[in-house]
Amino acid sequence: MLNKLRWPLSALIILMVPALFWDNLLAQLGLQLVDRSITVARYTLGIGLWLSVAWLAIRLLDAVVWDRLAARKAGGGPPKLMKDLLAAIIWAVAAAGITGGVFDLPITGLWATSGALGLVVGLAVQSMINDVFSGLALNIDRPFRPGQWVALNLRGQEPFVGKVRDTNWRSTRLETIDGLLLVIPNGLMSTSVLTNFSEPHTRSRFKVNICLDFGVPVERAQRILGAAVRSTAGVLSEPPPKVNVGDVSRYGVEYELIYWLEPAECSPAKGRSRVTTSVLAHLHSAGITPAYEKMDVFHGPMPPRQLDSAHDRKALLARVALFRTLGDGELAHLASQLTLVRFHEGDTVVAQGEDGESMYIVVEGLLHVFAPGADGVEMKVAQLVPGQFFGEMSLLSGAPRSATVRAATDAVTFEIGRASFKELLAQRTDIAVDIAQVVAERRTGNAARRKPVGEISKSEETPASYAMHLLGKMRSLFGLAERKNGADGSA
Ligand code: CMP
Repeated sequence: MLNKLRWPLSALIILMVPALFWDNLLAQLGLQLVDRSITVARYTLGIGLWLSVAWLAIRLLDAVVWDRLAARKAGGGPPKLMKDLLAAIIWAVAAAGITGGVFDLPITGLWATSGALGLVVGLAVQSMINDVFSGLALNIDRPFRPGQWVALNLRGQEPFVGKVRDTNWRSTRLETIDGLLLVIPNGLMSTSVLTNFSEPHTRSRFKVNICLDFGVPVERAQRILGAAVRSTAGVLSEPPPKVNVGDVSRYGVEYELIYWLEPAECSPAKGRSRVTTSVLAHLHSAGITPAYEKMDVFHGPMPPRQLDSAHDRKALLARVALFRTLGDGELAHLASQLTLVRFHEGDTVVAQGEDGESMYIVVEGLLHVFAPGADGVEMKVAQLVPGQFFGEMSLLSGAPRSATVRAATDAVTFEIGRASFKELLAQRTDIAVDIAQVVAERRTGNAARRKPVGEISKSEETPASYAMHLLGKMRSLFGLAERKNGADGSA
């Protein structure tokens, strides 16, 4: 302590002697010094006195208060910032003393001037001042001490983890696991959520997640992972590590490995790395790998993404409502009997009055049906879209084509010849019934359109009665079997 006070005390004593004996000295020497030199000498003496008093006060504070505090609180010591601040205040008092005491200047004016100046400077270095005051708050609050491991959690970012080196006026310095120095402004440090791994206890709890395949029984997984964590160097045995079953993800089962570390002995990052390494080694020995993204692949023919009318006849036929009841073999047989016929826009597919030898199924495109109206002039009576059929009337009745069918766009059709049609109907009465109903509706519609407006039909014929009549005709023509369920109305 004496050592510390030696120099400021000497300076004070040296200056005190001439100050005390000033008048006597002048009288004894009887020297007539120039006024100016006297003034300069007095000023120097006054300034020197104030400064040495301030210096002595700071040193005394150092020796009496701060050093004792440091001795009492092992490891921590007094905050450097506090020391600096008090020293600054003492220097400021000395400066005020010099202004008022030595130069006889009004101190209030000085304070006022420095206040205005302070405002201007303050605005210019706002963030720095914020950092300084935050640093002061951190020093008083002391949420961490040098040597402790902390994590700074900034919103939307990975936390910064490091060992506190020190906090100065502007920033706090952290030493990371990679040996880097993070300089964090105190403003940020005091406004962020901070995790201190060494407070309130010197040990902290950490967690590592590991995902294992569903195939690994939970009991086995817990045994292997538990052993892996417990055998990790640096992991505390008390409180004991735990292996909890966490979420079930699409990769497998997540296990939470919970363990405790003394961060001063083993940093969080080092502990994490050691635990993970140990877990991988234990899993490797047990023949298990951590779960990873998997995909089940089944070998099989890929369904066609786009049916081709030339090659996928069977699949296309299966989509036609009329043939929905046909089995796989029947469809295949029918497909083998078809002819693919393409038409260009405007082509006449069938013309009214011609002999008909086949019917068509629309696969692609649009066709229009034209028939004579009441005035005998041809008019459009219907349109045909994919899945519908035409040309069936002539095949069934043997009569000439009842209407003209033209392609409204380029079109693709399947043509079925009379023989194949006959064969199909002979085998599938239900198809014959469906066709008879469609034909009856089309025919009745056409007949109604041909009648002059206002003329009332004297005929008793309805679509249903005509369908029955047609079915009877088809039986004799194609040798259809009687339907037992009476669906055709003839049972
Ligand atoms: P078909 O008479 O052999 O030849 C012309 C075809 O046009 C006819 O068979 C039916 O398939 C079809 N047809 C006639 N009238 C209509 C209608 N009103 N609606 C739909 N198609 C019709």
